[in-house]
Amino acid sequence: MEHSGITQSVWQATAARPDFSPLTQDTSADVVIVGAGIAGLTTAYLLCREGKSVAVVDSGPILSGETERTTAHLANAMDDRFVELERMHGVDGARLAAESHGAAIDRIERIIREEGIECDFKRVDGYLFTPDRDPSGLLEEEKAAAQRAGLSDVELVASAPLPGFNTGPALRFPNQAQFHPLRYLAALAKAITRDGGKIYAHTHIVETKGGDDAHVRTSSGRMITADAVVIATNSPINDRVTIHTKQTAYRTYVVAFRIKRGSVPAALYWDTLDPYHYVRLTEGEDADHDLLIVGGEDHRTGQADDGEERFNRLEEWTRERFSTKAVAFRWSGQVQEPVDCLGFIGRNPLDRENVYVATGDSGQGMTHGTLAGIIITDLIAGRENPWKRLYEPARSSGVRDLGEFVKDGANMALQYAKWLMPGDTDNEMDVPRGSGAVIRQGAGKIAVYCDEEGHLHECSAVCPHLGGIVSWNGTEKTWDCPVHGSRFDHFGNVISGPAKENLEPVHVAAKG
Ligand SMILES: Cc1cc2nc3c(=O)[nH]c(=O)nc-3n(C[C@H](O)[C@H](O)[C@H](O)COP(=O)(O)OP(=O)(O)OC[C@H]3O[C@@H](n4cnc5c(N)ncnc54)[C@H](O)[C@@H]3O)c2cc1C
Ligand code: FES
Repeated sequence: MEHSGITQSVWQATAARPDFSPLTQDTSADVVIVGAGIAGLTTAYLLCREGKSVAVVDSGPILSGETERTTAHLANAMDDRFVELERMHGVDGARLAAESHGAAIDRIERIIREEGIECDFKRVDGYLFTPDRDPSGLLEEEKAAAQRAGLSDVELVASAPLPGFNTGPALRFPNQAQFHPLRYLAALAKAITRDGGKIYAHTHIVETKGGDDAHVRTSSGRMITADAVVIATNSPINDRVTIHTKQTAYRTYVVAFRIKRGSVPAALYWDTLDPYHYVRLTEGEDADHDLLIVGGEDHRTGQADDGEERFNRLEEWTRERFSTKAVAFRWSGQVQEPVDCLGFIGRNPLDRENVYVATGDSGQGMTHGTLAGIIITDLIAGRENPWKRLYEPARSSGVRDLGEFVKDGANMALQYAKWLMPGDTDNEMDVPRGSGAVIRQGAGKIAVYCDEEGHLHECSAVCPHLGGIVSWNGTEKTWDCPVHGSRFDHFGNVISGPAKENLEPVHVAAKG
């Protein structure tokens, strides 16, 4: 199955991704891991180091999910902020969150050192600033909460160190980090196979089962049996409902600009807007330039199709504050926002004991994915883990506030109401070349894609997960489900879950 991302990230353009063959016969391993992003590969690597035999499978080439679309800030300055974490999980929970994400960065650094990986890992400061110079005292409160969470060296400074852009007061979080995620993970994939692990790419999983006869089955009918199953597909493909009521899929956008080398200090920068802007640097393509990577403009997956405007707004925001040159890259990707700010890592709820899951990454999937490796390896090895309870997938999650909860429910109901609404257009002949639209046909909805040659490709617009009506994403040329974020390429082939199956085919026509 081809992954059909249209935008390209700086990492995709600057790292060779190792490819692996599909699974062609039944096999077995101690642990089978579905998904070869940072969560799956880190888990596989750490299990291999413990002497376990592992088999990793991925529908696409490895690292072709959200991991190649990240901006790879490595932070224990928590995305949802410590004031909120404290409210949701108490002072102890906030402390464990800071400690565990800090430990994840340390583990990445240790692996890089032990394996001799060249991936531009660098310790940097992180700066949080408000758009309006903090009239509300938000930064003071956040500093106090961060310190209660154990980050005693967080300090309030007069401004982030950005030449030409006075941010006003900012919180400085020392000892954050950044790296090139694909270089790091390509090296982990190599280490996994060196240690006897097996990696199968282009192998789509349609069935997973725990218990005494634990196994996964591929779309071509091959089976991998194992003592334990780990689902690391970013959005779990084995859980129909439970987890998906506790997280929401968002699309987020990134622009990378050429800037004069050394003109902006290497650090991580975030503002407090909702959605917030996230900024970092990486090496440019030549000795004169760095790349300034700026992300933001998030929206719920499948609920907006205005990527061009969002990229433009990011460009405007950046040009008003930084001395930039040309735009070098633009891309978008998806994150899963958990209702209570933290990932879900551990035993899969309502399932057999030997099925594990890692999801709810939010904007901190690099550290959450690394924590998945650490926690799930401990659970499989039968060891205690100090963070197990915090990330327990079966925890009864609080919600940020009641208003949000009610809005979420209403939003979901609205998505199902699309069954009754008219389509994007009445006539498939109106769909422009290179674009897609949903058309009403009797009581049903058809997703119509018109390719660049004018051929129409039609499939059902009904998401095979739980019946949402997909929407066209013109930036990525995909069909995205607004209910729980499943995504399908323009021909209807599933890219990411929770759906495991493709959109149902319907008749094919040709445009006159
Ligand atoms: C624009 C953007 C910016 C971000 N910035 C940051 C940041 O600065 N810092 C940070 O920490 N995090 C960040 N994140 C989040 C982070 O990148 C992700 O959370 C993380 O990469 C997810 O890793 P993963 O292993 O869970 O999933 P993925 O990388 O998506 O891997 C899942 C894999 O599962 C495979 N799969 C799916 N279904 C099946 C199936 N049925 N059978 C077989 N295989 C299947 C997919 O092909 C995919 O390769 C960002 C994300 C985005 C999109
Ligand atoms: S992803 Fe759940 S209905 Fe589509």
